[in-house]
Amino acid sequence: MNLQPYIAPTIRRVCQTTANPQRLGRVPVMDAIDGVPVSRLIETHGSPLFVFSEANLREKIRGVRQAFESVYPNVTFAWSYKTNYLNAICRVFHQEGSIAEVVSGFEYEKARHNGIPGNQIIFNGPWKSVESLRRAVSEGAMIQVDNRDEIVALARLAEELQTSIAVGIRVHVDTGTHAVWSKFGFSADDGEALRMMTWTRENTRLRIRGIHCHVGTFMLDAGAYATATKAVVGLAIAAQEAGGALVEYLNLGGGFASHARLHGQYLPPEQATPGFDDYASAICSSIKQGWPEGCPLPKLYLETGRALVDEAGYLISSVVAVKQRRMPDANGALAAYGKGGPTVASAVRAYGKGGVANGLGSTRRNAVVLDAGINILYTTAWYQPSIYPATQTAPGMQPTTVYGCLCMNIDVIREEAALPDLKAGDAVVMHPVGAYNMTQSMQFIAYRPAVVMIDPGRRVHLIRRREVLEDVQGPELVPGHLAETEQPTAAIGRHEP
Ligand SMILES: Cc1ncc(COP(=O)(O)O)c(C=O)c1O
Repeated sequence: MNLQPYIAPTIRRVCQTTANPQRLGRVPVMDAIDGVPVSRLIETHGSPLFVFSEANLREKIRGVRQAFESVYPNVTFAWSYKTNYLNAICRVFHQEGSIAEVVSGFEYEKARHNGIPGNQIIFNGPWKSVESLRRAVSEGAMIQVDNRDEIVALARLAEELQTSIAVGIRVHVDTGTHAVWSKFGFSADDGEALRMMTWTRENTRLRIRGIHCHVGTFMLDAGAYATATKAVVGLAIAAQEAGGALVEYLNLGGGFASHARLHGQYLPPEQATPGFDDYASAICSSIKQGWPEGCPLPKLYLETGRALVDEAGYLISSVVAVKQRRMPDANGALAAYGKGGPTVASAVRAYGKGGVANGLGSTRRNAVVLDAGINILYTTAWYQPSIYPATQTAPGMQPTTVYGCLCMNIDVIREEAALPDLKAGDAVVMHPVGAYNMTQSMQFIAYRPAVVMIDPGRRVHLIRRREVLEDVQGPELVPGHLAETEQPTAAIGRHEP
């Protein structure tokens, strides 16, 4: 018996995004990660599977430190927990000398669990509960105040404890190149931040030791940091002139771009993304040029997240189904089909417009369904990961839609990726996916996959096991009257296959 399904014949348009794919098209393949074959990783840990390269993490943090330390005397990096707070990842950064940057009581607990003392934790965020502030104060954490209510809460705490509390003040700056993150802190541009610093100094037991400014994320323009740094330096000087002490530190947050590619980004990341040296030069030369002469340069903190972890992360996934996606075609084939049937002319028009004409009057595009969905690739809302086959394929690539496995129409990982013909069972590797996908992934429909880390000696370590039913329903409670369920009596009927 022939079990092959019928597939209508198609005419294939040569894909322009991959020059001459039919003749020259060498398909880029990723069959190993840090020397470990993808097939072995799947065999041992299943698919889908997140994979992190420890060597890459270490290389990145050493690279960024080198860039800053070569131009500035006193700089400390804080690992931004929200970017990826898997303990193994955090511990690599801590081993490399990074302190912790957290934005909630939960993240604070996590950093303490990872052995970081309170005085090496930078505590950010627009809401910090009174309990978490109390703990942070008692452990000497570096609290960056975000708003007036937080200043009041901390002032009360200082009264209660009859002590002075050292804080940093968070500000936002209009850099002219990116949207202003005005949700956080006080405006440094219109005098608001200066007024708050003066008010705090005159009315509370709080001592403002530093200024914090995180301009945004994925900043492709290093010049934005020069603008922000100049504004922050100007604010420090203005606060001193208003009667306060010169702050001891500046914190320029994170935001350096990784080598991900934004939707609609024309230039490849290798060209679009500034180097660490560019960011270092923008920030450090602005401090050195603006800082009052004769005063020791302030300590510089940075909270770089995505640029340090994104490229270290890969997602291995497997094709579970191959489809031909029906594409909308405003003037051509579908319209003609609706009006009474396909014509040769409509098929030819569709062919010319870039789809695949199947002779029935609609345009089609290759599509594959993967065993991973956007619930674990949250960042695909903004970025397009590269997708590589994990094994050699026939030459030639086609525009291919890459669907996730969730039963939701919006579960599309890539609208259009250049891929060779794939079949069910083929593995692919997506990259870079190391930033924010761990922390923003949600349990939805499918279990979240295992995560492994490959150490520099090519040993593979499980750093988060695949979820099981208990992980999902563990926190659930069933009321007593629902505890005993009767089996529903199913209507028994004849089912057509
Ligand atoms: C205060 C703060 N610091 C650091 C970061 C890390 O930013 P990124 O991952 O863009 O480097 C963030 C992220 O939003 C943040 O809010």
